[in-house]
Amino acid sequence: MKSSGMKNLEEHFQLCTRGSESESDEDCCMKDEQYNITSAIPETCQELKECIIKRMPRKLHQQKNHPINLIKERIVSYFYKKFVGRTGNPVFSVYDNLDPIVTTHQNFDALLVPRNHVSRQKSDSYYLNSKYMLRAHTTAHQSDLISSGLDNFLIIGDVYRRDTVDSTHYPIFHQCDAVRLQTQHELFPEEWDLKVFEKRPDKRTDDKQAEHTVDAVRILSYQLKTTLQDLAKTLFGPDVEYRWVEAYFPFTHPSWELEIKHKGEWLELLGCGIMEHAIVAKAGAGDRIGWAFGLGLERVAMRVYDIPDIRLFWSTDRAFLQQFAVDDPFTAVKYKPVSVYPICVNDISFWIPPHGDFSQNDFFDIVRTVGGDMIEEVSLVDQFVHPKKRLTSHCYRITYRHMERTLTKTEVNAVHNEIGRRATEVLGVSVRMT
Ligand code: PHE
Repeated sequence: MKSSGMKNLEEHFQLCTRGSESESDEDCCMKDEQYNITSAIPETCQELKECIIKRMPRKLHQQKNHPINLIKERIVSYFYKKFVGRTGNPVFSVYDNLDPIVTTHQNFDALLVPRNHVSRQKSDSYYLNSKYMLRAHTTAHQSDLISSGLDNFLIIGDVYRRDTVDSTHYPIFHQCDAVRLQTQHELFPEEWDLKVFEKRPDKRTDDKQAEHTVDAVRILSYQLKTTLQDLAKTLFGPDVEYRWVEAYFPFTHPSWELEIKHKGEWLELLGCGIMEHAIVAKAGAGDRIGWAFGLGLERVAMRVYDIPDIRLFWSTDRAFLQQFAVDDPFTAVKYKPVSVYPICVNDISFWIPPHGDFSQNDFFDIVRTVGGDMIEEVSLVDQFVHPKKRLTSHCYRITYRHMERTLTKTEVNAVHNEIGRRATEVLGVSVRMT
């Protein structure tokens, strides 16, 4: 049973065991010797284990205002505007909630990845068993979406590759893939008298596949390249320097990588190409020719926002996240290192009004309104019900820290007292003396 609302992998296996009677063919539920999500990771590498199991459900790309989500929004908005239908409606649809557990068939075979390709090695990907794995690229969903009848789509999601953890590598990261398929009629107006497909498959050359005509590949690669150059300009500004480099992917031919110049160095931004006809035809769209690309969101976000370390994307620190709290994803933000100044921790306890509709978020709002940038974190650390008075008490721990200076005890106390006063006045709580 593949549950997309799954919490984590352990839960996945529990759910699977329970569901296995009715769905006996769903063998993603059985661990076998190929399983390497925890056991094959060296014991010493605790961080890796935790990262996969705990972080799978976090879906950074769906978390509003997370930098990964902002980059996703920028890309989606670009595609929505660039490709519109007759009535101005976007022609691309977005899939950002597909289950990261896929079959090895989806991840490799359906994309013509050779049997002996390095990416299939146990040391490179995370396997649940010999049939199921954590997707190593969002391209894994490409042929299913084509089979379901789609011609223009974006796939955005978390992907998993076994890798070291350092400032630019992390075993979970995020990708955006795109596919655009077009028919003869859509590509060439009748009067041009140009054909997409050869009458009989020709020779495969460095420049094209056997089925495609030179004209079709020429126009399609022009479309693809200009679309991606403009995407790079949308993300990095109109003056970004870029260059095209020939590449190889088993699922596209010809293939290219787009590199951009960042801080004086060429950086690979994305891979793309004309989709292999065999893949498109097998998925039931043999009358179409298409282009596809795939790009890593962390790479983009790190350059756009000046984020120096890929691990920061997993930070739950408000001081990090609040820097990206913008309404418009195109807002220019430059990351400022999270404060190195010392923290100051103060607790506040109060009885919550017996008949009111107290909500924690209202209290958090007051804290943030009064404390502004001095607030790093607020958390409920204790609650209990007084047996006689039948009143509930909450205790919150407020962590104060400023990004630019050391706070004095006196100024923190003043803010802390004001939070208590406002909570009393606005929420009707009664602050307990500690
Ligand atoms: N899946 C490729 C990767 O992860 C990127 C890609 C997608 C290349 C689609 C071509 C077409 O590197």
